[in-house]
Amino acid sequence: MPYPFESKKTEQPSTYFVQDRQNESEFTRLILQDQMLTAAMGGNFSEQPEPKAFRRVLDVGCGTGGWLLQAAQTYPDMSLFGIDISKRMIDYAREQAAISQHTERVEFQVMDALRMLEFPKAFFDLVNMRFGFSFLRTWDWPKMLSEMQRVARPGGIIRITDSAIQHISNSPALTQLQQMAICAFLQAGHIFEQERLGVLPHLERLLTRYGVRRVQTKAYSIEFRAGTSEGQAYAEDMGYVYKTIRPFLKKWGCLAPNYDEIYRQAIEEMQQSDFCSSWDLLTAWGERD
Ligand SMILES: C[S@@+](CC[C@H](N)C(=O)[O-])C[C@H]1O[C@@H](n2cnc3c(N)ncnc32)[C@H](O)[C@@H]1O
Repeated sequence: MPYPFESKKTEQPSTYFVQDRQNESEFTRLILQDQMLTAAMGGNFSEQPEPKAFRRVLDVGCGTGGWLLQAAQTYPDMSLFGIDISKRMIDYAREQAAISQHTERVEFQVMDALRMLEFPKAFFDLVNMRFGFSFLRTWDWPKMLSEMQRVARPGGIIRITDSAIQHISNSPALTQLQQMAICAFLQAGHIFEQERLGVLPHLERLLTRYGVRRVQTKAYSIEFRAGTSEGQAYAEDMGYVYKTIRPFLKKWGCLAPNYDEIYRQAIEEMQQSDFCSSWDLLTAWGERD
């Protein structure tokens, strides 16, 4: 399918917690995390009563494109569009679309969602965004939600999934790392208050306040245990993220002096046979007017 909305813009500085858009650890982590979480959440649209009715779907900040490609596999009549600020992510997503022979129905584009969504108005049946807090500051939500609604058709669905920052685990060192992340996301303006759940307590209010109708939510607490493949994937995800996030923690004055020691300890604790962690996520969705 030819892509009619090609952006000509050059790269701008990003508000993402990983500044380096070529970062290999972040890239590998997002592939791993996407597979782990889409499965744990019961697929792409587990809370939507009639997902087959969605003909055109946009994923904002699509990363490596796994969520969209999973939807392409499950729903043969859906046209899917993904945008991300990182060319590295989009190149990979396009490769995967080619490998899975979905290029006719799946398009990926480099685009900065904070500038505008370069699509016609009323174009999509559903506009999705997962883990937007990683690049949205609290003051970015009104414009982001307004853009998501502009490109959704009347009655179309705006769907946001976001994540807690601190999980409930029996690793004291992992908890310490996650508390440093809360500190940095707060200093950087990505969360509203010092809150282990990040933006989750605000999603329903944000959608309602900025014009989305009939907002509903679905909460998830996903358990990860040592000795399972999911527990191993979780430990790897945390291992990557707390390596990659180090410059962000430093920039915002939240890096403990003994960070490397705490990091090593967290990796060790996550390998203990009794390790377990519970990760809270929330999906909030509603209709465009
Ligand atoms: C935490 S990842 C989530 C990726 C994907 N949504 C998922 O759930 O796997 C956030 C993504 O947002 C992208 N991103 C950061 N700033 C952005 C912006 N201004 N516009 C579009 N994408 C952005 C990053 O490159 C990254 O791929």
